[in-house]
Amino acid sequence: MKEKLEQIKEEALKQIEASDALEKLNEVRVNFLGKKGELTAVMKGMKDIAPEDRPKFGQLVNETRSEIERVLEASVKKMERSVREAKLKREVIDVTLPAKKNHVGHRHPNTIALEEVERIFIGMGYEVVEGPEVEKDYYNFEALNIPADHPAKDEQDTFYIEGDILLRTQTSSTQVHEMEKGKLPIRMIAPGRVFRSDEVDATHSPSFHQIEGLVIDRNITFADLKGTLAEFAKELFGEDTKVKFRPHHFPFTEPSAEMDVTCFKCGGTGCRFCKGEGWIEILGCGMVHPHVLEMSGIDPEQYTGFAFGVGLERIALLKYEIDDMRLLYENDIRFLKQF
Ligand code: DAH
Repeated sequence: MKEKLEQIKEEALKQIEASDALEKLNEVRVNFLGKKGELTAVMKGMKDIAPEDRPKFGQLVNETRSEIERVLEASVKKMERSVREAKLKREVIDVTLPAKKNHVGHRHPNTIALEEVERIFIGMGYEVVEGPEVEKDYYNFEALNIPADHPAKDEQDTFYIEGDILLRTQTSSTQVHEMEKGKLPIRMIAPGRVFRSDEVDATHSPSFHQIEGLVIDRNITFADLKGTLAEFAKELFGEDTKVKFRPHHFPFTEPSAEMDVTCFKCGGTGCRFCKGEGWIEILGCGMVHPHVLEMSGIDPEQYTGFAFGVGLERIALLKYEIDDMRLLYENDIRFLKQF
């Protein structure tokens, strides 16, 4: 029996030695140590052995088993290591190779400017709302005090879809939607795209963006308008910025004004940037016309409000000193990356 066990061990070790793959080692394990393996077969012969010799025999079998297991395990470990090493060698990375560039986009100057404006007004307690780009004539003109025969309608000639459906020429239409909701007070800005049948040049585009502002509450006065917009200008263009209101006309506000800011390049002394003026026009504004309030179901005896409209591109062009609006629409990444 002892010789038999010795033979088994030698054969097993020989086969382990000759194995050149993990699968082969596994075969050896099955053949010698498995349920139907050689050692198990030997154990089954136990019954033919004299009872007093059985413990000794059992011990011998166990020793043989442990020895085979030990050598087998060591071989498996060695084999695994060399497999891993071979794999690492195959997958070697040349860290000195130039990396592939990952081209990500860039925020558009309009977006950067809009987020800045939103930040300022949200800080003053305003809500940011949106209105539809395809609009009824009523919201774009009529409800803003611009009846069918009003000359202001010609100034803002637009694209008609059909009948009284058109692409909005101004975000002021959003004011009407907000007022009609009947929830007061209102403190909102409404950024969005507007459309006009203009030729493309350095300062015009048939599609551009505006940000509308509207505040309606009891006892709102022109002083609130001035204070709010002066604060806005300071936040946007710098603490030293001064504002100036020039009387103007908009059909939906009374009184109306245009607001200028001191040139943030020269501080107001006059330079090439402000064309020697020292001032730069920035937005239109005014106290909401009582008739406009009334048409949207707000009692002008109880409530007053102010409104303003500012061109988003105009802010982006000024703030980033871009001299041609068309650059904003080309989306050339070399241009966009500069902001
Ligand atoms: N909607 C005007 C425009 O497109 C801008 C504007 C002026 C809006 C005065 C206003 C405002 O709300 O009060 O020229």
